[in-house]
Amino acid sequence: MKIGFIGLGIMGSRMAANLLQAGHDLVVHNRTKAKADALLAGGATWAETPTAAARASDVLITILAHPQAVEDVAFGENGLLDALPVGALWIDCSTVHPAFTRRMAGEATARGLRFMDAPVAGSKHQAANAELLFFVGGDAADVALAQPLFGVMGHKTVHVGAAGMGVSMKVVVNHMLATAMAAFAEGAALGQALGISQEALFGVLIGGATAAPFLARKRPMFETGEYEVQFPLKWMHKDLHMVAEAAYETGVPMPVSNAAKELYQLAAHSGLGDEDFAALYRFLNG
Ligand SMILES: NC(=O)c1ccc[n+]([C@@H]2O[C@H](COP(=O)([O-])OP(=O)(O)OC[C@H]3O[C@@H](n4cnc5c(N)ncnc54)[C@H](OP(=O)(O)O)[C@@H]3O)[C@@H](O)[C@H]2O)c1
Repeated sequence: MKIGFIGLGIMGSRMAANLLQAGHDLVVHNRTKAKADALLAGGATWAETPTAAARASDVLITILAHPQAVEDVAFGENGLLDALPVGALWIDCSTVHPAFTRRMAGEATARGLRFMDAPVAGSKHQAANAELLFFVGGDAADVALAQPLFGVMGHKTVHVGAAGMGVSMKVVVNHMLATAMAAFAEGAALGQALGISQEALFGVLIGGATAAPFLARKRPMFETGEYEVQFPLKWMHKDLHMVAEAAYETGVPMPVSNAAKELYQLAAHSGLGDEDFAALYRFLNG
């Protein structure tokens, strides 16, 4: 089975490396070719365009920044959609919003293709260590076909439902992630303004009942002020826009999420967009 992989950013480069290491026959493409160098040295084949990658694929995985990037790669000049062989499976792991995903599923089905959304939870280290969690939307038979690939890149797969449901779960999860970080950073700012030391605050909050468990992994970033990127802050702002799109589509009011969205936008405007999203702490605490 020939696997195509498009999108070799922080996540995709590591996921593709795990597929390659497991012995899969991999053809790769990325807008910026240099990011494929290590994979090509490891035996992957380069495709000059998304079209070329798609033509050579039985299963094609994409993990791209945002809906516009997926649209460019799917429909643009040299796009993948018209090039995939009939019956091939397109697995989109990008974090987008459910209506967009359902549109992609419709475009794929209309061309005789199969489609699955499979966004991931976990960041750079989980991608490197094959510890991702996949939220999957698609037909059960396709999920079964793809499971050996998910198993090489991750440790757990949750089949949420039909196409669009993987992304539906993902936007809920990232709403939780983003707002938990914002609540923590804001609470710490209040605590420090009240004269509580950072050490006392972290001792009570991190690992305690009120803060999200993932914050413990970010603690060294808060303490050192070094926010080496794992999940770019600008993509967390984008994900909150995906949440807002989903909330609009379903008529669900999400005032907390939308307030957090603007906070991440302000932090991005202050120059923190390419740092880890934990840099929201720096934005609010200096
Ligand atoms: N990092 C995380 O912790 C994490 C965790 C879970 C989910 N995600 C999601 O996974 C996806 C990828 O994230 P990432 O962290 O790997 O981001 P990234 O390092 O910024 O990579 C983004 C990828 O999208 C490509 N891209 C962007 N715009 C494009 C366009 N117009 N046409 C073609 N390609 C385009 C980039 O190509 P270039 O290399 O040429 O720029 C790159 O391959 C996003 O949807 C993100 O929300 C990320």
